[in-house]
Amino acid sequence: MTNSSTAISPADGPIAITGTSGYIGSWVVQDCVEQGYTVRACVRDPGNSVKVDHLLAMNNEGHRGKVELYQGDLLNPGSYDEAFNDCPAVIHTGAAVGYNKETPQQVYDGCFTEVEHVLESAIKGGALKRFVFTSSFAAVGHPRPNGYVYTENDWCGDNIEAYDGRWTEEMISKNRDIAYAMAKANTERMIYKRAAEDGTFDAIAILPLHVIGPLMCENHDQSWSWQNCMKFMLKGKAYAKTEGGRMLWNNTDVRDCGRAHRLCCESTAASNGSRYILSAADRNGELYTWQLQEMLQRMYPHVPEIGGEQMDGDKPAKPTRDGPRSYCLLAKQELGLTTYPIEDTVSATIDSYYKLGLL
Ligand SMILES: NC(=O)c1ccc[n+]([C@@H]2O[C@H](COP(=O)([O-])OP(=O)(O)OC[C@H]3O[C@@H](n4cnc5c(N)ncnc54)[C@H](OP(=O)(O)O)[C@@H]3O)[C@@H](O)[C@H]2O)c1
Repeated sequence: MTNSSTAISPADGPIAITGTSGYIGSWVVQDCVEQGYTVRACVRDPGNSVKVDHLLAMNNEGHRGKVELYQGDLLNPGSYDEAFNDCPAVIHTGAAVGYNKETPQQVYDGCFTEVEHVLESAIKGGALKRFVFTSSFAAVGHPRPNGYVYTENDWCGDNIEAYDGRWTEEMISKNRDIAYAMAKANTERMIYKRAAEDGTFDAIAILPLHVIGPLMCENHDQSWSWQNCMKFMLKGKAYAKTEGGRMLWNNTDVRDCGRAHRLCCESTAASNGSRYILSAADRNGELYTWQLQEMLQRMYPHVPEIGGEQMDGDKPAKPTRDGPRSYCLLAKQELGLTTYPIEDTVSATIDSYYKLGLL
């Protein structure tokens, strides 16, 4: 099968998306509606106005496409049969395991089982041409020297010797980060294999790094998400997710992330097994925590103190590891993705918090 025979357009029928009440899923819906698709937006509870009102509001924005809500639960096999019936594309952004208290093994098994359920329903729908999975940069990153630039050819299980064999299958049940990364990577392998065996559709993955950008509703302020950490920095709190707040934020805009998922359905350059890192477009989009702090302070001079990294005077107290470095060049080249400038992404994140009354 040539990839152009699986590329779709709004004329081919409705596009189904899981996890649409979520941060990334909501922006996939927004982009698809703007581009004229009828979107079957899958949520666990279509009656939960806190999670779906922003989706329904897209029907009143004058777009050519429209949103229809469908119920589905990732944990139940066959749950998406109705939603996916006759859909030429299914985009799977939903995930039951996230910032909760699952064991590492549950994180790993959950990801696999959920994607199996979704893929089975997608194939059963009878019209599937493109299956797009929201994987993660975690499926790419692995120990490399400082400054190493990762590409889509990298996998998290590569170069295990450098980590004393830590990134092995045996470690899945012992370490949550490894379980998450291996789950995403092995789930990718599973969907590519399944699509190759089937021969009638292509499976493609989006691998986001640090996703930030505007929130559409309060539900997008999930604890410990990157955007939520930025909110706390605006409140003058230390950045608590890493030791001393030290981190290289390699940022992608949630709006670009949303658009990239739709482009995976339409691209004639993408084909089965294509994977696209969504990260900074260039070095400007990669910021150490103290640089992000500086940018925020410049943008919001009325805020008395922006929290973040441990400082020694006006210098960082300790150096930060130079990584992960990576650029969304393949997504730009093969999907035709254009990206927001980093200043726009950072200010749109914080402005949305103010607009929603969360700051
Ligand atoms: N955000 C990032 O920086 C980032 C980076 C890399 C990868 N990713 C990946 O991107 C995907 C989406 O992340 P996100 O940031 O958008 O997360 P999110 O805002 O927490 O969204 C997750 C979605 O999954 C849905 N969900 C949870 N349990 C479900 C279940 N049992 N059945 C059906 N739906 C369920 C939730 O919907 P309801 O609660 O309404 O049912 C929610 O809409 C995830 O796979 C994540 O691993 C995210």
